[in-house]
Amino acid sequence: MFRIQKAARVAENIFEIWVRAPHVARNAKAGQFVVIRVDERGERIPLTISAVEQDSVRLIFQVVGKTTEQLSRLVEGDEIRDVAGPLGRPSAIERYGTVAVVGGGVGVAGAPMIAKAAMEAGNHVIGIIGARSRGFLILRNEMEGCCHELHVATDDGSYGAHGFVTDILKGELNRREIDCIWAIGPTIMMKAVASLTRPYGVRTFVSLNPIMVDGTGMCGSCRVTVGGETRFACVDGPEFDAHRVDFDELMTRLRTYHREEKEALLLFRECAAREGGR
Ligand code: NAD
Ligand code: FES
Repeated sequence: MFRIQKAARVAENIFEIWVRAPHVARNAKAGQFVVIRVDERGERIPLTISAVEQDSVRLIFQVVGKTTEQLSRLVEGDEIRDVAGPLGRPSAIERYGTVAVVGGGVGVAGAPMIAKAAMEAGNHVIGIIGARSRGFLILRNEMEGCCHELHVATDDGSYGAHGFVTDILKGELNRREIDCIWAIGPTIMMKAVASLTRPYGVRTFVSLNPIMVDGTGMCGSCRVTVGGETRFACVDGPEFDAHRVDFDELMTRLRTYHREEKEALLLFRECAAREGGR
């Protein structure tokens, strides 16, 4: 069992938990993730490792279904059944020169570890983060601490620049030489980043988040098409060359269980309300 050291709501419908998982904390690198299970009968879900402190890891998630709703109700001292990881290949951190780390919405969770590692490798790091509006923005202060410069955008202009992260990135690409870009966020955002950077010929990595089950390359549920070939995001990724990813296929696959996800969430909330507890 894995103990929750800290739990908090960090933005609209977005929560963080710090879980004691020494084996993960000891080995985790930027770009990696864990697969967790809340209890014996729970589904397995992948979550990006967002930070590491001593023997704990921070996981940040948006409530979208039953499991994330269950996670959001956890408090300090509670325990979850499984934390498997660190999984996936770490980010390809090298000394590229000037790099941009672009995070959108809850995807910003994975940005600080990449930015920090890129900075430690000697890069000049431009952070670009965005959210729907001010209330959805996460980790602004933390990103400020691990980037040489930070740009913030909101879709409605309630904080920072008015627009998408891609609007800021486009301005930066036109203004100066950028050698490498990481984008992490909703699939539509990563697709937009890939389309934007392709004509500039800038190496661009995206962190894909397909449905995952085992996280070890056995079940095939996380398959994505990259450069015309089937790859498993859990073992071959989650980061891939953005210019070779079939984003449309990924978006179709991600929609597969939307209805079931919503139904399970409603049912869980009804049961929890009937039982009068969390
Ligand atoms: P959102 O829809 O609020 O968008 C966040 C930001 O992404 C926006 O503020 C904007 O700057 C940018 N963006 C969105 N659509 C864009 C477009 N068409 N063109 C350019 N930029 C665009 O994001 P959210 O609700 O926080 O995201 C939830 C999604 O993120 C879920 O689908 C979840 O699965 C995914 N997610 C991905 C990762 C990952 O590893 N890539 C991690 C966590 C969550
Ligand atoms: Fe099963 Fe990747 S999650 S193969």
